[in-house]
Amino acid sequence: MARDSYGDIVKARVRQLLERLLAYANDEIENSKRFKIALNWETSKQVIVRTQLRVLAELSDLDKEEVREALNKLKGFLSILEDLREHERGSENWHFKLTLWCDKGDKEENLKKFDEEWQRRREKLSGVQRAEARKAKPKPTFYENIPLSGVVEFVGREVELQNLHQMFQKNNQVAIAAIAGMGGLGKTELALQYAKAHRETYKGGICWLLAKTGDVGIQIVQFARTQLDLNPPENLTEDSNQKLLAQVQYCFRHWREGDVLLVVDDVSDYEQVKPYLPSPSSRFKVLITTRHYFGGIAQLSLDVLQPERALELLKSLLKETPGRIEKELAVTNQLCEWLGYLPLGLELMGRYLARKRDLSVTEMLRRLKEKRLDECSLSKSKSEGNMTAQGGVLAAFELSWQELENDDKQLGCLLSLFAAAPISWKLVEQCLPEEDKEEIEEIRDDKLLNLYLLQRKGEGIYQLHQLLREFFQYKLTGLD
Ligand SMILES: Nc1ncnc2c1ncn2[C@@H]1O[C@H](COP(=O)(O)OP(=O)(O)O)[C@@H](O)[C@H]1O
Ligand SMILES: [Mg+2]
Repeated sequence: MARDSYGDIVKARVRQLLERLLAYANDEIENSKRFKIALNWETSKQVIVRTQLRVLAELSDLDKEEVREALNKLKGFLSILEDLREHERGSENWHFKLTLWCDKGDKEENLKKFDEEWQRRREKLSGVQRAEARKAKPKPTFYENIPLSGVVEFVGREVELQNLHQMFQKNNQVAIAAIAGMGGLGKTELALQYAKAHRETYKGGICWLLAKTGDVGIQIVQFARTQLDLNPPENLTEDSNQKLLAQVQYCFRHWREGDVLLVVDDVSDYEQVKPYLPSPSSRFKVLITTRHYFGGIAQLSLDVLQPERALELLKSLLKETPGRIEKELAVTNQLCEWLGYLPLGLELMGRYLARKRDLSVTEMLRRLKEKRLDECSLSKSKSEGNMTAQGGVLAAFELSWQELENDDKQLGCLLSLFAAAPISWKLVEQCLPEEDKEEIEEIRDDKLLNLYLLQRKGEGIYQLHQLLREFFQYKLTGLD
């Protein structure tokens, strides 16, 4: 039976053995010393192996007969194994030379080649027509739970997407943080677009986690259950916290092969999610979006959109009524400026204008200047349920506001009374002669800058984003 079979079941066993051998060679196996396998690398692709059938069986979770069969397939079918034993038949000891396709360190590439080569040889062997085989080839499976993006057109951010990918070549964790603070800048959207564009890179899956709900550990276990068919044991320990941690670790240990991307969206307290993140290894990458500054994690700083991109975003939302923006181009530019080129503000505005076909941009800007953040176009309408953003501009800013103490709020509001231009810190100090200089500095650095509610423009020079300035002024009316 098995001797002549080249079907999927046999292939899976041979692949498993090869994968385990490569993992062993690359030191990816815990406590690997318990396996007595002597490897002697002649080149980075060629190795002489000396071991026993029993050891290989334990290493690969196959039985001895299956290992024997797999070794024979590597030899006779794929021709990457040269048998060096003196007595071949029925021998328990194995001694062979294995020739890989690529460097031993590149496990994924080797396994890919394995799949291709197996398929090629099988087709040749059974005389299956290539075209027919291609038709029958199943679509690749992606293990992922990436949320749907609501963008009509994703504009700009080409450089950021590239940088992000490059940063992952050197770091296991990267945080998308906002230069000009606050919500609505496009952190989540950038993470979404990155994930969608890299399904092929992260063959081990893309797992999207929401930090806000506070149960990242449970979400990881759920993902592993539903997407990866894993079944982490229940009876690990009494303590429910310890149990969850052990289950999460079980999931990481048994995760599908290949690189994995974990996205943790909107983290405000890194320490809270940290216990559930995989230990640093090159296989698991963690992408965090946050409104905070975290030391020690590589940061991709995100700024507002370029003016041309902002215009492009508005245009993409107003495709149904072409020419509308072009007719009032100068005013539209002013509108973008008033919105501080914030993607959320621009998107809400575009969607609003699309609903109100007879509203001119000039009138829109007039209303905005009058009602400011209370203008209803800046809140999220019920009919816009498919947006990536959860709420309107006020709601997005409110999240940061809630994290401020009274003193921080007061300083923010005071800053909003300065003209919409860079502010010299000396002037701020002059406005607060009674206050302790150091205390104000601390609020500035630890709170406002830390939450990116304020930007440092140069030595002693700070600035508020246009919409944040509006926001603090709006809040000022409600403050004692
Ligand atoms: N480059 C972009 N092109 C088009 N729409 C965008 C872009 N960046 C963000 N958006 C939209 O703006 C809104 C706010 O973005 P989001 O990612 O939710 O912000 P954040 O996570 O920083 O609070 C979302 O609805 C999103 O779809
Ligand atoms: Mg977000």
